[in-house]
Amino acid sequence: MKQSIYDQIDTPSLLIDHAKMENNLLQMAELCKSRNIKLRPHIKTHKIPQIALRQIKLSNNGIAVSKLGEAEVMLRSGIRDIVIANEIIGQQKILRLSKLMQQGEITICVDSVTGIRQLDEYLYTGGKRLKVLIEVDTGMNRCGVSKIDQASNLIQEIDNSSKLTFSGFLSHSGNIYAASSQHFLERIAVDEATQIAAYANHFKSQGIPVNTLSIGSTPSKIHLDKIEGITEFRPGNYIFYDYIQVCLKVASIEECALTVLATIISRPAKDRVVIDAGSKCLGLDRGAHSNQLTNSFGYIKEYPHAVIERLSEEHGILKVDKNEVFEIGSKINIIPNHSCAVTNMFDEAYIIENAKVKDIWRIEARGKVT
Ligand SMILES: Cc1ncc(COP(=O)(O)O)c(C=O)c1O
Repeated sequence: MKQSIYDQIDTPSLLIDHAKMENNLLQMAELCKSRNIKLRPHIKTHKIPQIALRQIKLSNNGIAVSKLGEAEVMLRSGIRDIVIANEIIGQQKILRLSKLMQQGEITICVDSVTGIRQLDEYLYTGGKRLKVLIEVDTGMNRCGVSKIDQASNLIQEIDNSSKLTFSGFLSHSGNIYAASSQHFLERIAVDEATQIAAYANHFKSQGIPVNTLSIGSTPSKIHLDKIEGITEFRPGNYIFYDYIQVCLKVASIEECALTVLATIISRPAKDRVVIDAGSKCLGLDRGAHSNQLTNSFGYIKEYPHAVIERLSEEHGILKVDKNEVFEIGSKINIIPNHSCAVTNMFDEAYIIENAKVKDIWRIEARGKVT
């Protein structure tokens, strides 16, 4: 029987196609360079220090993270410039943040007077000032201010603090994942930049320096050529892409660099095949932000027409063509619907190059939810 690299890998496992990943990294770095916009990759998608180090080498800039725990892992790997694209609330977290400030250049988001006052009360800065970005809600309806007056209030409050410095504005139009057409996708991408630039222009005209205007999501990359006035682009998913990006026409199947390797463990009926990867590996996403883009819990590269119809924790149940051959024991590659959620469920990833296992990398920042 013909040997395959998959014979060496137990399942379910996470595989990264190194050449595809590198291509995605280079293309994004090139795109940002061509637009004279700094690239600050969000590492929430991979959570792997080796990849973050490669990203900053290409972008000559820092990274973005979601959580203090992710920042702690990345600082340990030697990365110094980190934006925590999130609000940090509560004494315990602010004490951890104080420690991080001693090790690197940390920036965080604020969107409330209460949050700013907590930072002022609990942060010990050792004479340093913490850079803060005011988060702007550009349509996602998550965190962030939605009026100039609110931002003005916050800038005043930051000014009153001896521990904080106002650095600029940050937004993330995650609602782009719910765009019902390419037209809306473009509108959301351009609108995010237009809105945040309006905040900057307002305060600049009052003599307030605004150094950073940080926006971004992976889908908005396709309209980066129409975006003006921002300083920093912060995509995360682009490193691997996933089936949701394919459904949104942001990426092609060929560009998807992350797969879950699974084994066919049963064919109890002609139209039903069962695999050993369930919701604990593939996640339950079928779209984002209330937009269901696919009826399958992933795209099977070897069987593009099979639908992963149901998941229990350890099983994936496929609806298949009665006449198609599925051998029990054979292995299949699944492009997950949402790669960021899937990496969070594995301890390590196999790095595949030239049809060989080049390395195994630990997903060190997985599960860092605090
Ligand atoms: C605040 C923030 N910035 C950037 C990103 C990156 O977006 P994407 O994964 O679409 O590239 C995310 C993703 O969730 C985010 O929450």
